[in-house]
Amino acid sequence: MSMESAAWSAMWRAQSRTIDDHPFSKESLSRIWRFARPYRARIAAFVGLSVVVAALAVATPLLAGDAINAITGDEPARVVIRLGLLIAAIAVAEAGLGIVARWFSARLGEDLIADLRTAVFDHVQRMPIAFFTRTRTGALVSRINNDVIAAQSAFSSTLSGVVGNVVTLTLTLVAMLTLSWQVTVAALVLLPVFVIPARRVGRRLASMRREAADHNAAMNDQATERFSAPGATLIKLYGRPDEESRAFADRVRRVRDIGVRSAMLQTVFVTALTLVSALALALVYGLGGTIALSGGLDTGAVVSLALLITRLYAPLTALASARVDIMSAVVAFDRVFEILGLEPMVREPAKPVPAPSGPLAIEVDGISFAYPSADQVSLASLEDVAVLDPRGGETVIDDVSFRAEPGALVALVGSSGAGKSTLAQLLVRLYDVDSGAIRLGGVDVREMSSEELHTAIGLVTQDGHLFHSTIRENLVLGAPDASEERVWQALERARLAEMVATLPDGLDTVVGERGYRLSGGERQRLTIARLLLREPRAVILDEATAHLDSANEAAVTAALAEALTERTAIVIAHRLSTVRAADLILVLEEGRVVERGRHAELLALGGRYADLYRTQFDTDEKSAPAEPAIVPSSAQPGDRG
Ligand SMILES: Nc1ncnc2c1ncn2[C@@H]1O[C@H](COP(=O)(O)OP(=O)(O)O)[C@@H](O)[C@H]1O
Ligand SMILES: [Mg+2]
Repeated sequence: MSMESAAWSAMWRAQSRTIDDHPFSKESLSRIWRFARPYRARIAAFVGLSVVVAALAVATPLLAGDAINAITGDEPARVVIRLGLLIAAIAVAEAGLGIVARWFSARLGEDLIADLRTAVFDHVQRMPIAFFTRTRTGALVSRINNDVIAAQSAFSSTLSGVVGNVVTLTLTLVAMLTLSWQVTVAALVLLPVFVIPARRVGRRLASMRREAADHNAAMNDQATERFSAPGATLIKLYGRPDEESRAFADRVRRVRDIGVRSAMLQTVFVTALTLVSALALALVYGLGGTIALSGGLDTGAVVSLALLITRLYAPLTALASARVDIMSAVVAFDRVFEILGLEPMVREPAKPVPAPSGPLAIEVDGISFAYPSADQVSLASLEDVAVLDPRGGETVIDDVSFRAEPGALVALVGSSGAGKSTLAQLLVRLYDVDSGAIRLGGVDVREMSSEELHTAIGLVTQDGHLFHSTIRENLVLGAPDASEERVWQALERARLAEMVATLPDGLDTVVGERGYRLSGGERQRLTIARLLLREPRAVILDEATAHLDSANEAAVTAALAEALTERTAIVIAHRLSTVRAADLILVLEEGRVVERGRHAELLALGGRYADLYRTQFDTDEKSAPAEPAIVPSSAQPGDRG
């Protein structure tokens, strides 16, 4: 590829990025400059090298002119040989320095990608759960991949493109003007012919590329959604695969058409530009030659001009798109910095207080909570909406107080939507309360480090998540140093050891995406084993057996009973047996505790609990009290409080 067409295709790439209507703020620039601080020395070295390389590139045409003059002027052979050697030396130096400069820019670019990615990943990980419940994962992942790469490539191309080309252009123009101002001016007259259509076609190409990118993103979304185990199941059960394929094929065809059209547009344009450059060359020969014949120029100067003009248009074209280059760098950086600028709502304490040892009391002291509004936790661009909803949620937890003594079992009941799961999430500090306080062993959860807090208290939900990796890796998530023996012990207690032992790969069996290759009960027991391995001193079970059939439930219940042993427990229950054994029952309705007490007392009260007892709790359970209860295996209901 010639130098010109390389520059042109670089311009196309630059112009096709989204830059429309982007505020070009000083703040963005200074933020990029701050981020680039560690690289400043290398940037300076790279710029220096670029200047030297550009200067060498201009020297060769001038020396070539001298050589021609030496030949036509009948100079001794050694003069010509010396010039030839000099040109050779410059070529070697240019090649060597070019490689060094490339090393600098490659290192710079890759370091930038690596640092930005690490920063984004680290930051996103620390975002509150509210953020993840709102954002589209695909959009988020694309920030780490695409936008970071776009930022880097725009940064590098601005750096190497703009800096190198300004120097080359200046030196080339100075050299040409010194040789012949008439030829130089005539050559520059062709410039508008060159630059004006470049901009228009560039915009057209950009909009085509954007459309193609949108289609590509939609195809991605469709494929990732449909090709996950739950998505594929849904499509099979409800979907019409033909329609799905048709929608996909439509997009594929559209992308194909855009691909052909943009390739043609680009080719026609690059060809036109090559033509203009060739015309300029003809002009040098014609006009320069005429001047030379009338004695106004020597032959060497015409040759130098001809060689220089080919080096003039490439940087000119590249610089015509410099604004686009810089803008797209700013846009991409802004999209990445936008994420880095999100404040984590749940903050780590500056001076964490350790939790006391032994079973912990859980103290809930007049807490209220509403889910944060969208604009507090998220970004419109990640939610796929134009403007974020600024409305805060309604109060979900309203002035709730209770105390679970160390080792006690507290049951939380109430109708669906009462706020039970929300309360559970507040207890493990997935959100912070708006007012009041939650204390573990007397220490406010906001004063504990998250590591300490999550070692102290564990949460099991009805759909505990498993990563797509081995059983072992899923188990030791919270206890990376656990010995083989402890892992098997935990499996044993979760009533899962037998099952795992029969698997051909045992602990190294890979559970499919979201644990899809396990039955619901097995999956649930695996999450319980994970909790047991972590050995928290307080546990919360949020309807941990709700989705299980009765065959599975007996095993899971037994596993849960293990989980509760000698631990403070808060159980969000739908099983009567569990509730009956509780030291304290809280009835939650619309975020408020409406009744509290023990089973017999509440039943005698004849209020909301008695209602729930009649309607919500399994009726056949009442007639079959032999069914295993989630009761700590060391303590039976009778010997409590
Ligand atoms: N992430 C969320 N954002 C906003 N509102 C939520 C969120 N999760 C739950 N809610 C709302 O909070 C209320 C209580 O929900 P939840 O605590 O899950 O009830 P329960 O577990 O008692 O069935 C419901 O009205 C629900 O719509
Ligand atoms: Mg719930």
